[in-house]
Amino acid sequence: MVKIYIVTTIVFHLSAGEIINLLPLPEETSTTGNIAELSHDKNLTSLEFANVLSAAVNSIAWIPQIIAKSIGYVPSLVNSNNNGEKVEQFVTEFKDSVHNEDAKLTIEGLLNKYNYACEVHKVITEDDYVLTLHRIPSNRSPVFLMHGILGSSDDFVIAGVESGLAYKLADLGYDVWMGNARGNKHSRKHALFNPTDERFWDFSWHEIGVYDLSAMIDYALNITQKSSLKYIGFSQGTTTFFVLLSERPEYNDKISVMIALSPVAYISRAKSPVIRLMSPGTTILSQFIKSLGFYEFLPDDSLVRILKLMICGTGPVGDILCSNIAFLTSGYDFAQLNVTNLPVIMGHIPAGSSIKQLAHYGQGLLTNDFAKFDYGEEDNILHYGVSTPPNYALENILVPIAIFYSDSDWLAHPSDVKRLYKRLNSVIDLYRIPFKKFNHLDYIIAKNVTYFVYNRVFRLLALN
Ligand SMILES: *[C@@H]1O[C@H](CO)[C@@H](O)[C@H](O)[C@H]1NC(C)=O
Ligand SMILES: *[C@@H]1O[C@H](CO)[C@@H](O)[C@H](O)[C@H]1NC(C)=O
Ligand SMILES: *[C@@H]1O[C@H](CO)[C@@H](O)[C@H](O)[C@H]1NC(C)=O
Ligand SMILES: *[C@@H]1O[C@H](CO)[C@@H](O)[C@H](O)[C@H]1NC(C)=O
Repeated sequence: MVKIYIVTTIVFHLSAGEIINLLPLPEETSTTGNIAELSHDKNLTSLEFANVLSAAVNSIAWIPQIIAKSIGYVPSLVNSNNNGEKVEQFVTEFKDSVHNEDAKLTIEGLLNKYNYACEVHKVITEDDYVLTLHRIPSNRSPVFLMHGILGSSDDFVIAGVESGLAYKLADLGYDVWMGNARGNKHSRKHALFNPTDERFWDFSWHEIGVYDLSAMIDYALNITQKSSLKYIGFSQGTTTFFVLLSERPEYNDKISVMIALSPVAYISRAKSPVIRLMSPGTTILSQFIKSLGFYEFLPDDSLVRILKLMICGTGPVGDILCSNIAFLTSGYDFAQLNVTNLPVIMGHIPAGSSIKQLAHYGQGLLTNDFAKFDYGEEDNILHYGVSTPPNYALENILVPIAIFYSDSDWLAHPSDVKRLYKRLNSVIDLYRIPFKKFNHLDYIIAKNVTYFVYNRVFRLLALN
């Protein structure tokens, strides 16, 4: 009966208790077994887990108003722009470009193809994860790039050679280092655990900040023999920065400037349907997590199908755009979409994240805090010595920070960004992208990203 329990709880949260009595409990349909079996069967796979979650979502998806209520409104990826001629043009452009070989090339392959040198480095963290760093070497100032949730170092090359941030920084002479968090496709190695082992996935962006970033930054500084580097974070790449600097203030001396592209710390206003759907489930998730361990975030087809229907409706544009969970998580706006490049983007994201990463964001959405992972009262005392998870000490951050944010961002809502801005003591630039429809992924793939974002980034890097 576990499914019914989850469904009830999710519906309860979604509707804030108002509609719960109107809802008939759904029939038990799956083979996931009853709660006793579930909590004792430690071998439940992530796919089965995703099935339970999506079955829960499935059961309530027939009442879109409830979802709409929980999300505030259901954001749409497919707007009035795509009718008639435009749809046809979109489909034609997409079909013409599906065979672009860049979609299949690895980041090394892409850099080679476009005549950029590429080095691959391996770094071992204090807790024994083996991470991959990609570097376009130069003996000038090092710039360290950190990707977002479901992303990887590929994030900085998928816009293509004309707009990709890594290419442009290399053109300017910088020594470009691109990190990869544990769990993404380039960093799926641990001294003891395989990715098939639940213990491999017991991490959130907290561990990525504290262990992965510190190890990668130290490594880059050692190789380059420089005393500091410039840091550019996108999305979760900013979250992990804030975690690192709050927890280990000695890193203030190792970073001369931080560029925050779509910073995510406070997340209470995020529209992302995936994060929103995770959040009411987090209480349940933590129960599951306690008995079943953590897993990779692998949404199954039915979850993707439901989100797709909610966010994209039907039609060829939605079918293409919304088949990728990264777009369903982060949003995507038609206005800045390079349709020709879409197959390349889809060939490289999503790159892998843990369920705990999404659940941790989901907790922040509910509590309106930027705090450590909530394990439940008892276990919080074990982890933190107090029953509620402590907030991150943003006041420890001294690195000069430039913030870029935008109105249509599904993860970094302008009011959440402003709240973060007020808590930081070292902001040197707060810049709102002057384009209303600029969305989350646009920071790495928009047609006009150089014009809207990177030219200002380059000026800031030169000055700091
Ligand atoms: C679960 O895993 C344990 C080892 O971790 C194994 O001994 C057991 O047979 C597995 N059970 C099932 C149902 O696969
Ligand atoms: C620093 O780099 C040198 C080689 O350049 C290596 O021998 C040494 O182990 C590195 N130190 C750390 C702490 O990584
Ligand atoms: C759009 O995508 C194509 C194909 O990847 C690429 O060649 C082109 O440079 C991109 N346009 C811009 C403005 O980046
Ligand atoms: C985007 O860039 C192109 C040329 O690079 C320019 O013609 C166009 O006006 C720009 N669009 C916006 C909205 O600025």
